[in-house]
Amino acid sequence: MGMKERIAEIHELVSGELSQVDGMQALDALRVKILGKKGELTALLRGMGQLAPEERPAAGQLINEAREKFTAMLDERLAAIKARDREEALRRETIDVTQPAPLPPLGSEHPMNVTLQALVDCFAGMGFEVVEGPEIELDHYNFELLNIPKNHPARDAQDTFYIDDNIVLRTHTSPVQARTMLTRKPPIRIICPGRVYRADELDATHSPVFHQLEGLVIDKDVTMADLRGTLNAFAERLYGKGITTRFRPSFFPFTEPSAEVDLTCMACHGAGCRVCKGTGWIEVLGCGMVNPKVLDMCGIDSSVYSGFAFGIGLERITMMKYGIPDLRLLYEGDMRFLGQFK
Ligand code: PHE
Repeated sequence: MGMKERIAEIHELVSGELSQVDGMQALDALRVKILGKKGELTALLRGMGQLAPEERPAAGQLINEAREKFTAMLDERLAAIKARDREEALRRETIDVTQPAPLPPLGSEHPMNVTLQALVDCFAGMGFEVVEGPEIELDHYNFELLNIPKNHPARDAQDTFYIDDNIVLRTHTSPVQARTMLTRKPPIRIICPGRVYRADELDATHSPVFHQLEGLVIDKDVTMADLRGTLNAFAERLYGKGITTRFRPSFFPFTEPSAEVDLTCMACHGAGCRVCKGTGWIEVLGCGMVNPKVLDMCGIDSSVYSGFAFGIGLERITMMKYGIPDLRLLYEGDMRFLGQFK
């Protein structure tokens, strides 16, 4: 077979295989197969020794032309494959900047905070200022200044956590009243929200840690009618028209007279239901006119000034508002529960 024919054959082979090459690796393999050390064309070059000397220049030229031709064919294919791979990579790596980002999961306000914020807004609207006090409290403020001396039977009603003889975890927010009266002059109009502690077992309606919101007003000529009006306004403002208060006589050493206050049941609007055990009322707070003894102990002249105070249980009104049957739900941090108060 002549050189020309052999080259034509190799050309055929290259065209045929090139049409099937689908990537860089296959293309490299083909390049080696034709142009490599043991390649088809290289073999031809080696075979030149057997030609007559006068045939060699023409054969050499043919082979060189063929080498250039094949190299060009392979390079052309290489460029095409590279272009295609690039296209593909670009398509794969495309970022759609107009696609909406996935939103991070949003938490929701804790129902106790919802209640607290509503109460603060309500009382701030009536001119009350928020004041806070320590949770680790002196016996002096938690009891003595509130007319509950040592060995007073009223201490039994509050199962106190004592840190030592003189230091307790505050059992109510009332010590903030005493602290405020000692440091400010009337008129005083404050609310004091905060955590309080009592040695109670945790169950559906009790917890050793819970929250109160104390209110205190001291001025000239403050009467029980002001107390009643303030609490009625609070009831309507927070829970809607028709929700009112009912005062029942009670006793607290630091108020005289004292009352326990019920709100119209929000579940049945007073008709009587399971939530209010058929009575139409729900007990939510204690209150009274500040005992003149307490005023005097706290440096306020009881012959000039009078005042009222109240203490609202925050868990209780939160549970009532949302129909939460078990206090523990408020503390367990279960997202399935908390997520409902968005
Ligand atoms: N401190 C009382 C309690 O914890 C509630 C209260 C506050 C009563 C203010 C009267 C006035 O039970």
